[in-house]
Amino acid sequence: MKRIAVLTSGGDAPGMNAAIRAVTRCALDRGWEVLGVRHGYAGLIEGHFVELNVRSVGGIMQHGGTVLGSTRCQEFMTPEGRAKAVGHAERERIEGLVIIGGDGSQKGAALLSQTDLAIVGVASTIDNDLVGSETTIGVDTALNIALEAIDRLKTTASSHQRAFLVEVMGRNCGYLALMAGIAGGAEVIAVPEVDTPPDQIATDLRDAYARGKAHALAVVAEGARQNAAALAAYFSEHHARIGFELRSTTLGHVQRGGQPTAYDRLLATRLGAAAVDALAHGDRGVLVGVVSGRIATTPLAEIVDKRKALDPALIKLAGILAR
Ligand code: F6P
Repeated sequence: MKRIAVLTSGGDAPGMNAAIRAVTRCALDRGWEVLGVRHGYAGLIEGHFVELNVRSVGGIMQHGGTVLGSTRCQEFMTPEGRAKAVGHAERERIEGLVIIGGDGSQKGAALLSQTDLAIVGVASTIDNDLVGSETTIGVDTALNIALEAIDRLKTTASSHQRAFLVEVMGRNCGYLALMAGIAGGAEVIAVPEVDTPPDQIATDLRDAYARGKAHALAVVAEGARQNAAALAAYFSEHHARIGFELRSTTLGHVQRGGQPTAYDRLLATRLGAAAVDALAHGDRGVLVGVVSGRIATTPLAEIVDKRKALDPALIKLAGILAR
């Protein structure tokens, strides 16, 4: 291996820059040349590369987002799009490619690994929905941002004896909602993995009111049966069944922005370094992630189109704690 490239793809995640830095410096340490691909798979299709050196990845680790840029690129999912990408990689004499991203990006990585390019994926998404890694770059930061918002909302909710619906990201995965709900002491947690009818949520909020609580908090995953806006509209006609006055907040992309936590920087650094080790050892078509608490590789073919389950014990525990 002499020359590799690195790209970030899909939704950005706090910590991606630390992964780019680790990939670059570990590869340079081996005497390899490193290119950055601008704007994910779109940049690969367009042949948009920048040379990375020790200095160009300095001072980036503490920043959110990705200095390389990222896109969701539908063209890459077509054979024609991938052929263009491979053509550019060949012209640039790229032998190995590190792809930092979530499930859609790793699906693209699996397709690309059917070519001569040595592909190594790095598990990175705030959703934590990627099979092949117990946790992913960005989750810890997103969770802490959601938690800070929840803590703040609780103080104003208590002052006015209100219930708050707080919508968190996660696409079709309820991990962020479940963890933020448990850590934030939510009375209700609605996740896509469990079908929770709105009337059940109303009943749980009403019960909290009847128990004399100063506030109630429902953490709603964006992919739940009904999101916060739909629930708020439904509940506006059923106020008497909730007791509390109701307000709704959608955290949205705030969860993806800002400084990565120490945990995310360290995780990204370790995964980035492991990706270079994997290329050096001749691994091809693998995802670098956390398995049983350790950094490990899993074949990309084994992880694509799989759905990561929530821990049922944690779902049960959340119900017990919401008293
Ligand atoms: O996959 C990360 C994520 O933030 C999801 O939680 C969310 O559903 C989606 O990306 C939002 O995508 P976009 O940034 O394209 O609006």
